[in-house]
Amino acid sequence: MIKIFHLTFVLLSILSFVGRVILSESHPAILKQKSIKVAPHIINTLLVISGITLVFQGGWLSTDYGWIIAKIVALLGYIGLGVITMHNRGAVRWLAFVGAMASFAYISIVAVTKNAFFFL
Ligand code: HEM
Repeated sequence: MIKIFHLTFVLLSILSFVGRVILSESHPAILKQKSIKVAPHIINTLLVISGITLVFQGGWLSTDYGWIIAKIVALLGYIGLGVITMHNRGAVRWLAFVGAMASFAYISIVAVTKNAFFFL
């Protein structure tokens, strides 16, 4: 059940991020609305809370938890690069956007494989 919540917030997080990037290119005024500003913070907070709940529910800290550390570090990258994306224009924006999407993809693959070094 919690995993369904987690996966729902995973989907909402990436959709709201891509949606805000599209809006900031096409209709930047909409981004000034309070609900649009607050929503991603609520979604990402619930994403992290549901993730932490899954960690305890699955007893992951008493087994091999390297992949969870990798997820948290990459999550910081996803958030940081997301902020850089939204606060910049031009090449910096698009480089940060690609980095944020790559971090998100990495987190998802690590979640499924439970291996931080799945690419080796
Ligand atoms: C952008 C951020 C995140 C993404 C894209 C993401 C993605 C995913 C995905 C796709 C799964 C399903 C894996 C499967 O069923 O095989 C999952 C499960 C899980 N995630 Fe996340 N997650 C994120 C953040 C977090 C955070 C911050 C934590 C913990 C601090 C966390 C902990 C977990 C745990 C413990 C599971 C359950 C693993 C299992 O029982 O198989 N996730 N996540």
